[in-house]
Amino acid sequence: MSTTVIILAAGKGTRMRSQLPKVLQPLAGRPLLGHVIETAKKLQAQNIITIYGHGGELVKNRFAAEQIEWVEQAEQLGTGHAVQMTLPVLPQDGISLILYGDVPLVRQSTLEQLLEASSQSGIGMITLNVENPTGYGRIVRQAGKIQAIVEHKDANEEQRQIQEINTGIYCVSNAKLHQWLPKLSNNNVQGEYYLTDIVAMAVTDGLEIASIQPELEFEVEGVNDRLQLAALEREFQQQQAKELMQQGVHLIDPSRFDLRGHLKCGQDVQIDINVIIEGDCELGDNVQLGAGCILKNTRIAAGTKVQAYSVFENAIVGENTQIGPFARLRPGTNLGNDVHIGNFVEVKNSNIGQGSKANHFTYLGDADIGADCNIGAGTITCNYDGANKHRTVIEDNVFIGTNNSLVAPIKIGQGATTGAGSTLTRDVADHSLAVERAKQFEKANYQRPQKLKK
Ligand code: UD1
Ligand code: CA
Repeated sequence: MSTTVIILAAGKGTRMRSQLPKVLQPLAGRPLLGHVIETAKKLQAQNIITIYGHGGELVKNRFAAEQIEWVEQAEQLGTGHAVQMTLPVLPQDGISLILYGDVPLVRQSTLEQLLEASSQSGIGMITLNVENPTGYGRIVRQAGKIQAIVEHKDANEEQRQIQEINTGIYCVSNAKLHQWLPKLSNNNVQGEYYLTDIVAMAVTDGLEIASIQPELEFEVEGVNDRLQLAALEREFQQQQAKELMQQGVHLIDPSRFDLRGHLKCGQDVQIDINVIIEGDCELGDNVQLGAGCILKNTRIAAGTKVQAYSVFENAIVGENTQIGPFARLRPGTNLGNDVHIGNFVEVKNSNIGQGSKANHFTYLGDADIGADCNIGAGTITCNYDGANKHRTVIEDNVFIGTNNSLVAPIKIGQGATTGAGSTLTRDVADHSLAVERAKQFEKANYQRPQKLKK
């Protein structure tokens, strides 16, 4: 049966007190709505219909690359009214999952379970038993069967004692949505068109309403303010940390680890505290990350040790390399095996061959460095002439002396050596020594200036 995912995302999110529409607020580095869309895609939904209202253009633009049907709900007259807006584009057959842009973490497995449970009767929902049900719609059952959902504001004292609540997530056959939604009324305390009223309609039609509960409570938690956003972020991070540890990753402290994207790890990876992983990252067997490292879209091969506070973005790192502390590998960095990059070394758009080392205070930008080179402390590739970028080529087995400025474009031939303090503007031939510096000037018995007496 074909599945449609309907996402309600028209809410203003006043309590966030933000310029940004609520569904664009980030959780684990991605907009709330992005999480829901990702899950919908995993379900192989035939189509995804998103109902937007506040911040419409911003929201649509953010997801321009996705195959989504956008339906506007200009005035927010209730959850039932929101889903009514989809009727002109909603297929006649198949089944719909109704989700929320501000309930970001419902999991694929839970929704698959809901689809399965709902396949018989054509209507099912996710409910939850909670300590304090205040504010939620209550699930009214008779002889165990769901009869209706009563909103908190419409509920009587007895109904308010019910601890099973409506999470708002449903699975309903499209034929039934076409049949029921036009019949909703707003004859209730809030004067809204309640989506929840379809439950009573289903009962009238003699249908049994399936229900499941989520494995993890946070799956059905919504975000209304920044406190809830932060709380949900923590729960999600804890869950991700737990999953990584179950896969064998050694997190020194799972409560001080943040994954904002996807991380693939080999065996015996060790991650010290306060590491942040963003985008898509991969760590090979036995990789160690020191405290405070930040990795974005980076791949590090087996056996590499990264010391504290090193920052990576769009970098590829070979096996058994040593990096940091305080190294910065910027986009386009490609390190071979057994490379050493030490403290306060910045690398950008550069290839560094096997066994080469740049251990101290260096900038390597737009450079192609061969194997077994040593780059002296304080060396700078002068890659920028104020308008254009130029490459520095350093062939295999080169020794660059301390504090060199290599003015690109320039090539240092294989086996060459350069003297400390040189500013080199011309190519250096293979196996030669190049030194560029003023002759040492010396004055015997030199007197330093004295402070003038007042
Ligand atoms: C709804 C349910 C309630 C349930 C609760 C779970 C109804 C009538 N009630 O109540 O049973 O326990 O969710 O959190 O459905 N939205 C729109 N357009 C609208 C109204 C709402 O897009 O016209 C969106 C909101 O942006 C939000 C979601 O629908 O994402 C839920 O709306 P909200 O007003 O928060 O519903 P509740 O009153 O909490
Ligand atoms: Ca000089």
